[in-house]
Amino acid sequence: MDEDIIVDSSLRPRFLKEYIGQSKVKQQIGLFIEASKKKGEVLDHVLISGPPGLGKTTLAQIIANELGRNIIFTSGPILEKKGDLAGILSSLEEGDILFIDEIHRLNPSVEESLYSAIEEFRLDIVIGKGNSSRTVSINLPQFTLIGATTKAGMLTSPMLSRFGIVLSMDYYDEDSLKQIIKRSAVIIGVEITDEAAFEIARRSRGTPRNANRLLKRVHDYAVVNGGEVIDIDTAIKALSFLGIDEDGLDVADRRYLDVLINKFNCRPVGLNTISSALSESKKHNRRDY
Ligand SMILES: Nc1ncnc2c1ncn2[C@@H]1O[C@H](COP(=O)(O)OP(=O)(O)O)[C@@H](O)[C@H]1O
Ligand SMILES: [Mg+2]
Repeated sequence: MDEDIIVDSSLRPRFLKEYIGQSKVKQQIGLFIEASKKKGEVLDHVLISGPPGLGKTTLAQIIANELGRNIIFTSGPILEKKGDLAGILSSLEEGDILFIDEIHRLNPSVEESLYSAIEEFRLDIVIGKGNSSRTVSINLPQFTLIGATTKAGMLTSPMLSRFGIVLSMDYYDEDSLKQIIKRSAVIIGVEITDEAAFEIARRSRGTPRNANRLLKRVHDYAVVNGGEVIDIDTAIKALSFLGIDEDGLDVADRRYLDVLINKFNCRPVGLNTISSALSESKKHNRRDY
C-alpha cells in the first residue's frame, strides 16, 4: 500500500500542461489562474466534482503549483468538530489553498462555521459556556478553498453557492487514457507499444486511477513472464490473467451482473437483496486488482 502511494504520487502530473484530457476544465481553470495572477488577487473558491479516480486531488495540487501557493489537505470526515476546522483556518497564510476532499461529508456545524470563513474571511469562536459565553471573531487572511466531491448533488445549496468556480470532471476518452498510460510507463521505466497502451486504456472504464493500476499489474505480469516490452500480446494475456474482461469488468462486477440478470431476471431489486445474494456488505468498496 505504502509503495502504491509513493508510485502514485510520482505519477501525478504537477502542472496543467502535463494534465492530460479534461480540456474544458483545463481551459477554464487555466484562464482563472492567469486572471488571478494578473489581477494580483487570491483565486476564488473552487469546487471540483466528478467520480473517484478522475484526477480531482491531482488538479487541486496543480492549481497550487501553478499559483505558487501552499496547499493544506484535509477532508470532510476528518473535520469532526468546529475546533478541528478552526485549528486549520487559524494557521493559514495569505493566498494559501485549503483543500477539503469529500466536502459533501462535512458535519453541518463545521459546514456552518466554514461559511463565514470563506465568505468574509472571518472565524467566529464561542468562548465559555451558557450565560457567560461570548463570541470572538478572528480575521483570517484571504485564502482559496478547493472542495472536491464525488457527489455534487449531496452538497447543500448554501455551500454550493459559495464557490465562484465550479469544475465538473467527466470520464476520460480512450485516447487520453492511452496518453496517460504512456506517460506513466515512461515514469515507471517500462516500454509499452501504442497498441498495448490502447488495450489497457479501453479496459480502464474512463478512469486514470484504473489505467495506472492496470498498467502496474500488467507490468508485473510482463516482468515475471520475461517480456521486456509490453506489447499487445503480453497486455491481453496479462489482462486475462487479472480477470479483467473486454469491457474492463472484473470478477466482482461480473458476479453482480450475473445476479441481476440470472437470479432476479433483470427486475428492479433492492440493495439489501443484492447484498445478501452476493454475500457482500452494502458498503462494499470496489476491490483492488
Ligand atoms: N489528467 C490526468 N493526467 C495524468 N494522470 C492523471 C490525470 N488525472 C488523474 N491522473 C492519475 O490518476 C490518479 C488518480 O487521481 P486523483 O487525483 O487521486 O483522483 P481523485 O482525487 O479524483 O480520486 C493520480 O495518481 C494520477 O496519477
Ligand atoms: Mg482524491
